[in-house]
Amino acid sequence: MAVDLLLGLQWGDEGKGKIVDVLTKNYNIIARFQGGPNAGHTLVFNGKKHVLHTIPSGIFHDDATNLVGNGVVIDPVIFKGELDKLEEQDIDYRKSLLISRKAHIILPTHRLLDAASEAAKGKAKIGSTLKGIGPTYMDKTGRNGIRVGDLELSDWKERYRTLADKHESMIAFYNVEIEYDLANLEEEFFKAIDVLKSLTFIDSEEYVYQAQKSGKTILAEGAQGSLLDIDFGTYPFVTSSNTTAAGACTGLGVAPNKIGEVFGIFKAYTTRVGSGPFPTELFDEDGETMGRVGHEFGATTGRRRRCGWLDLVALKYACQVNGVTQLNMMKGDVLSGFKTLKVCTAYKYKGEVIEHLPYNIEPENVEPVYTEMKGWEADLTTMTDASQFPKELNDYINFLEKELEIPITIVSVGPDRKQTIFRN
Ligand code: GDP
Ligand code: IMO
Ligand code: MG
Repeated sequence: MAVDLLLGLQWGDEGKGKIVDVLTKNYNIIARFQGGPNAGHTLVFNGKKHVLHTIPSGIFHDDATNLVGNGVVIDPVIFKGELDKLEEQDIDYRKSLLISRKAHIILPTHRLLDAASEAAKGKAKIGSTLKGIGPTYMDKTGRNGIRVGDLELSDWKERYRTLADKHESMIAFYNVEIEYDLANLEEEFFKAIDVLKSLTFIDSEEYVYQAQKSGKTILAEGAQGSLLDIDFGTYPFVTSSNTTAAGACTGLGVAPNKIGEVFGIFKAYTTRVGSGPFPTELFDEDGETMGRVGHEFGATTGRRRRCGWLDLVALKYACQVNGVTQLNMMKGDVLSGFKTLKVCTAYKYKGEVIEHLPYNIEPENVEPVYTEMKGWEADLTTMTDASQFPKELNDYINFLEKELEIPITIVSVGPDRKQTIFRN
């Protein structure tokens, strides 16, 4: 069977966790392929909210297997925190959670290096979640990292010490004020490592291959969004992994010709948390309303998310890079009550009107060109079928489908699992 992908098309927080949870009933295996605890995936059902950082969003379904793939970076401390929360809810994760031996481990000093690097950048900081993502992927590509499989070897603690000592000298090199108590951090880290070691480690590429061969269905769950991709995002204001479709191939060991459906997920408007360009960002009452009604605060850091109109130039680019086959539109309910909606369909770039994403989208280079559409009043959150949609919402959806040339098959009208409408 082919492996289906679900990916964020904007700057993250599109609602990936919610839709993966909704789709899990159709799959045997849910697999994360990149990122780490910089992600915050929110699921809401039975009146309760759950936030997952590293654990795949299929974990609440009894019959799904959840795989943390080789492309993921794991912070054992945060991972243990997630497991503790699952335990509190009597979720039996031991059978259903598998971890790739090739996944890299975030050390306490990776987090400190992240903080030092950001502090040293001053105003130019990335706005990182400070979870140690950048430094851990740097050690991965620098061929210095410690992997989950290393925990099964007798000398891993010596390797840990060598790397942590090196990190300490790098932190000193940054010459910024960072207060820390490494002994304390290490105590917590080693306790969490023991918990991690009690889980099932696997050679995940072999597992994924055999699963495909035997007809098991697999959904790969993306983290972050396409515009945060290390290659195709708004560099340097990006994360340190490939968040796009190709990342699923390298992050799970899936061959490119074995990719099936690619679900591209986007908000009906745009948000971004952290620094970096955002052409359609709003600094007025409309942006404030989106943030307030949409509760736009980060699921991992609690930071306020910047809000703006939907950007079709950026969205088209993300669809192209990922080969999106189906679109999922989230949070349309947040736009109820806006008299006029704007959609950016082109940029004015160096005196020209262009419809593709150029190399540089800093505010001094691009100005969005908007198409205005009539908004709708109706509350969407109680709707259960697309036949109930107001005409203006249908116009909005049809316009996007025409521009993007991809069908919008899911429209989400609220955070709950049940507030999900499938369109034919
Ligand atoms: P992810 O990182 O892509 O999984 O998304 P996050 O969980 O970080 O952010 C999405 C936020 O929007 C969460 O608080 C969700 O509960 C919420 N959400 C998801 N879909 C909808 C929707 O259709 N309407 C509303 N109002 N909220 C939604
Ligand atoms: P999910 O999976 C939104 C952003 C950070 C920062 C930049 C780099 O929940 O959609 P990093 O910690 O990776 O060094 O941060 O990327 N960022 C996210 N923004 N959603 C996320 O994940 C994000 N993960 C990282 O805010 O701008
Ligand atoms: Mg999130």
